[in-house]
Amino acid sequence: MVLDRTTAPGAAGHEGARGHEGNDGNSLDALIDEQERVLLERQACSHALHGRASQVLAGGVTSSWQITRPQAIFIERGAGSKIYDADGNEYVDLHGGYGAGLAGHAHPAIVEAVTRQVRRGTHFAQPCEDAIVVGEHLAERFGMPQWRFTNSGTEATMDAVHLMRAVTGRDLIIKVEGCYHGHHDAVQVSVAPEEDDGIGPATCPASVPASSGIPRAMVDLTLVATFNDLGSVAHLLDAHPGAVAGMIIEPIMMNAGIIHPDEGYLAQLASLLQGHGALLCFDEVKTGLAAGYGGATAATGVTPDVICLAKAIGGGLITGAVGATRDIMAHVANGDYEMVGTFNGNPLSMAATRAMLEQVATAGAYEELGRLRRRVARELGASIARHGLPAHVVSAGAKGCVTFSTTPVRNYRDFLTVDGRFNHLHWLFQLNGGVFLPPWGKTEQWLLSVQHDDADVSRFTDNFEQFAAAVGALLRGGNKID
Ligand SMILES: Cc1ncc(COP(=O)(O)O)c(C=O)c1O
Repeated sequence: MVLDRTTAPGAAGHEGARGHEGNDGNSLDALIDEQERVLLERQACSHALHGRASQVLAGGVTSSWQITRPQAIFIERGAGSKIYDADGNEYVDLHGGYGAGLAGHAHPAIVEAVTRQVRRGTHFAQPCEDAIVVGEHLAERFGMPQWRFTNSGTEATMDAVHLMRAVTGRDLIIKVEGCYHGHHDAVQVSVAPEEDDGIGPATCPASVPASSGIPRAMVDLTLVATFNDLGSVAHLLDAHPGAVAGMIIEPIMMNAGIIHPDEGYLAQLASLLQGHGALLCFDEVKTGLAAGYGGATAATGVTPDVICLAKAIGGGLITGAVGATRDIMAHVANGDYEMVGTFNGNPLSMAATRAMLEQVATAGAYEELGRLRRRVARELGASIARHGLPAHVVSAGAKGCVTFSTTPVRNYRDFLTVDGRFNHLHWLFQLNGGVFLPPWGKTEQWLLSVQHDDADVSRFTDNFEQFAAAVGALLRGGNKID
């Protein structure tokens, strides 16, 4: 059974996606069955809402990755570190809205800023002073002098790709196998391909469309490299001399669990690309404020040519940003590349983003997030050791995940060998124990917010201990994993 978000579980439905009928109650699949049964018992209202939603919303949800097994869960409200579902169940929210929730819910500073701005008008399509302040803060944190705003991560990476092409006059781009950069054509390539998709050798991965609807002509403009493998990039640059505009990369991969760059990899990548007249874009949509005060850019000390942000910077509101060097942004300023959008930098988003940067994601907040992160890693690591799980904890800033492998995962090909059922079972144990992790657990990470505390962490680590004990007993008993 494959368990990742590319398998369109909603289409298969709860039973249809299973494929493990007749298990004997002593297997990983049997544990999943049991936990899914418990979850469904707690979700009568969500079940009814999903039925109603399916009449008017395709798949009964508003974004395809909200379709989770065994069913979509409807959320009613959030407060502080918690969210509450339609059935009234309370969860410690470590889903964080797929990484946007660094502020937690209804943070007083965000509520105040948004309330104030709503009363003063929410949209003018003209610049406002808050946008300058946000730009000044981002310039200081990310060491990138000039910025523009978008409404999502997808728009940010789309503009970044256009900009790299506009500045260099070249059409080809390089992306990394297993990196997700949003849903526009140029980056909908080799996002989460399966082995039988004709992915080619790891030294020279094939360009595989991520879904239907992506024209082959677009796929052919996107070359694919392997994370932590400079040779795979050098090979592409040599094979296409003078034709590569630039490379887009998550500096810490966060759509395949968490994969850190090897020591020196990003710096060497920057100079390799520079040597070929190609640009480097860090997609910090996920890492951004979640990885630290100045994102992965500040944490690694490598400054790219272009940076994309979204998710957490908006304090829970809708915003994205593109930062670049003055030389690159001159192409925007002089109209060579028109970076446009009706709602770009709208006053509501800018008010929330300003509050996020000035009052929420402060240096002090990162100290506390670091303390909680270390506690989570220590306690989960102890449970893993106590119960002999084939797993380890990987974290970065406010984000973390359990990777179900005894050896480090260095790239997407390593990630493919991880059995996603462990992550799904972990997700179910947490959900039934009152902690909401992001679904598609093999791919995703938890996010601590500035409003989480030790009691929240205890609920999380206690649930993990129960999960680890159940899986450990299964493994020690020599019971079925396959
Ligand atoms: C690294 C990365 N880039 C871009 C995006 C696209 O962002 P959005 O969903 O806001 O369009 C995502 C979304 O998960 C992401 O993880």
